[in-house]
Amino acid sequence: MTFNPLKEKGIPIEKQLRTWKEIAGKPYNKTEIDCYSRTRQILMNGIEIEAWNFKHHFARISDNTEVNKILAIIRRIEDMQQTTINWLAPKDQSVLETTLGYEQVAVDLTAWLAQNEPDNYVKETFDFGLLEDFDHLYRYSQWAYMMEGIKPDAIVQGQTDIIIGRPTQNHHNDNAMRLRKHYDKNTADPKTKVNILTLLSGEQQTHNYYAEHGFAYGNNVLRQTYAEIKDVEEEHVTMYESLIDPTESIYEKLLLHEFTEVCNYYTCVEDEVDNKLKTIWEMFLEYEIEHLKIAAALVEKYEKRDPQEIIGDKAVLPCRFKSQKEYVSKVLKEEINKRLDGKPEMGYTTTDKLSQDWESYSVQEKVGKDGSPTEQTTRIITLHKGRDIVKADGKLKDLEVELLSKGLEEKSLAPNTVKSKEMETIITDYNSKKNN
Ligand SMILES: [Fe+2]
Ligand SMILES: [Fe+2]
Ligand SMILES: [Fe+2]
Ligand SMILES: [Fe+2]
Repeated sequence: MTFNPLKEKGIPIEKQLRTWKEIAGKPYNKTEIDCYSRTRQILMNGIEIEAWNFKHHFARISDNTEVNKILAIIRRIEDMQQTTINWLAPKDQSVLETTLGYEQVAVDLTAWLAQNEPDNYVKETFDFGLLEDFDHLYRYSQWAYMMEGIKPDAIVQGQTDIIIGRPTQNHHNDNAMRLRKHYDKNTADPKTKVNILTLLSGEQQTHNYYAEHGFAYGNNVLRQTYAEIKDVEEEHVTMYESLIDPTESIYEKLLLHEFTEVCNYYTCVEDEVDNKLKTIWEMFLEYEIEHLKIAAALVEKYEKRDPQEIIGDKAVLPCRFKSQKEYVSKVLKEEINKRLDGKPEMGYTTTDKLSQDWESYSVQEKVGKDGSPTEQTTRIITLHKGRDIVKADGKLKDLEVELLSKGLEEKSLAPNTVKSKEMETIITDYNSKKNN
């Protein structure tokens, strides 16, 4: 790729204001949209929210009126871009359908990033988060079917497997233990910086979506399921943001935010199959080139630095959305029993090596005392349908019992846990009834 955004022509900032009609736009058709057009729409919404919110944080610590005026003008544009993108979602796409879209983003984005991440420690962290969002997708798929009769493939279109991951009740950690070691701003690849900011933006918006919509259903166990998974997304935001070097200057961070937007829109333009969405990505790419140039000028003026020292001389490719079944299945089989080690090195361990006083046990005991809603989800779908909904390719779909037995911690399990022996009985009973 030889696209150097600093050398490209953008759209002048004064021409980036649009009419309300243009801003609000028209939604896509949920039965016609490609699942990866939907994932791009969900991700870019998250990226715009981060771009907007970051500029507010910047302004709150800045006493420079010239800079604050520039930030005020650009962040209004970010906010208008966010509206256009988020409101592409049609009103007849339910909260649960959208939720499956959010978790498909998390799975296929994280899997892509993990395979294209130059820093091994960051890659390992991506793999760790991947198996958690993978389990969320499975839990929500049960609810989409029970509440609305929606099969997961109506949303994920056969591109992402639906089966148990690292069980959600085991995602609840001492939140301080989630903190990771950060990269070094002077030596990290610009790609690492963009990868983290991209994923962080997606995870933060996932958290916010569950926070704002988890009460949309009257079913109490579903409300609790949203609460449980939303809290894991808070852990994910904590985990991914801690990978970023906190000593980057605020101007450096501004530049990286705009660069992340440019790189993501550039990829969207390259990959988009929907004409309406593609036109939006093309327009917003030109907007972001201008934002990037403004941020670069601020870095030059106030820090006397060459912006290319920070972002390099070409766009990086953050995420190409495509099916990641093979990779996810490999990580799932190998790493479902992986856990945070709680050591000063901020590394990972496996369930069999956890000490009796591992910090996350006390959190899990406390929050799971009345039972884990995501475990209850499996119990309710079993009553409803005979067993859980699993949609996976090849041999993976027969590995549920094995995965559960390897993936669950023995200590501090919620009282309503569906353990591997019980799951085996459920599946055997279901199969024998089906065959009779
Ligand atoms: Fe933007
Ligand atoms: Fe998730
Ligand atoms: Fe997540
Ligand atoms: Fe921007």
